[in-house]
Amino acid sequence: MLTLGIETSCDETACAVLDGSDKIRSNVISSSLFRHRPFGGVVPEIASRHCLEQIDFVFQEALSQGRIKPGDLDLVAVTQGPGLIGSLLVGIVFAKTFSYQMGIPLVGVNHLEAHLVANFIGSRKPSRFIGLLVSGGHTGLYLCEKGGCALLGETVDDAVGEAYDKTAKMMGLGYPGGPIMDRLAAEGNSKKYSFTKPKQKNRFAFSFSGIKTAVLYRIRDRKRVTQAFRRDMAASFQRAVVSWLVDKALDAARAKQAKHIVVGGGVSANSELRRVLNSEAAKHGIRVWFPTFELTMDNAAMIARRGVDLYKQGKRDTLTLTGDPNFKVT
Ligand code: KG4
Ligand code: ZN
Repeated sequence: MLTLGIETSCDETACAVLDGSDKIRSNVISSSLFRHRPFGGVVPEIASRHCLEQIDFVFQEALSQGRIKPGDLDLVAVTQGPGLIGSLLVGIVFAKTFSYQMGIPLVGVNHLEAHLVANFIGSRKPSRFIGLLVSGGHTGLYLCEKGGCALLGETVDDAVGEAYDKTAKMMGLGYPGGPIMDRLAAEGNSKKYSFTKPKQKNRFAFSFSGIKTAVLYRIRDRKRVTQAFRRDMAASFQRAVVSWLVDKALDAARAKQAKHIVVGGGVSANSELRRVLNSEAAKHGIRVWFPTFELTMDNAAMIARRGVDLYKQGKRDTLTLTGDPNFKVT
């Protein structure tokens, strides 16, 4: 079975062709990041216009790289949400039109669930696992079993990727700040600054806005933001947020007696998160899953993979399918 995946939830326009549930025939991504950089964050109107300009080219490219003709495709999977409504609608309208024109089934996919299943392209999915979602817009812990995921806790304010981006912006670093801070952190002293771990009523919930404010005050206290300060702050910030993520993920795994932790979302590319979670989980006999680097960022191969799962479970969408900016993980 050949599945066309389409992803346009934010600033990327992506199309992929998945052969069965494991073989990526093509995975094409056009990012509008360079257009948002001057603004220090994603501008929704610019993002959706970019999707509209790029979708046809990206689709053609995905077919050509996969050596596929439109008539070879058996299924269309498209991101239904969460995301920016303008961007979402571009992919959805394209997917509906293509499915109608070719007479093939259409399945709407949750972008966050797709980030988790990116781990299972080429691997057998464990029957029960803790899902740790760490992206630019969402941060949460889930207990996933029998084809569904139950929310254990999520952030009460900023997502972890957002905290990285905002902190980087305050320090005068570029956008997106996550990868820049990650690189800088490797050269800094992570013990230079310490941050209070936020307390939540729900032990599996997160909060990342306090640390952002703490960094802001440190910057205000200084005459000049030097490169040495940036390095030490990036390292200290990273040590703190990673330890909070790791502690809660392991706590959830132990509480729910899960033997696997599956990580998804843009922040799953973070080097310290990978290092610390792998080593801490190993002490408790827990296996940690991280997607390959190219699948950590927004892509359509993961959308196709989730679409195949849903299709096998009997899900079919119709031409009434529309974008859901707040689409919940189920
Ligand atoms: O999942 P994603 O591509 O977009 C959403 O669906 O939200 O995640 C993007 C986020 C950005 O906030 C970016 O700064 C962060 O992922 N990110 C990282 C790293 N690479 C990307 N954060 C920390 N360390 C990284 N290496
Ligand atoms: Zn994403």
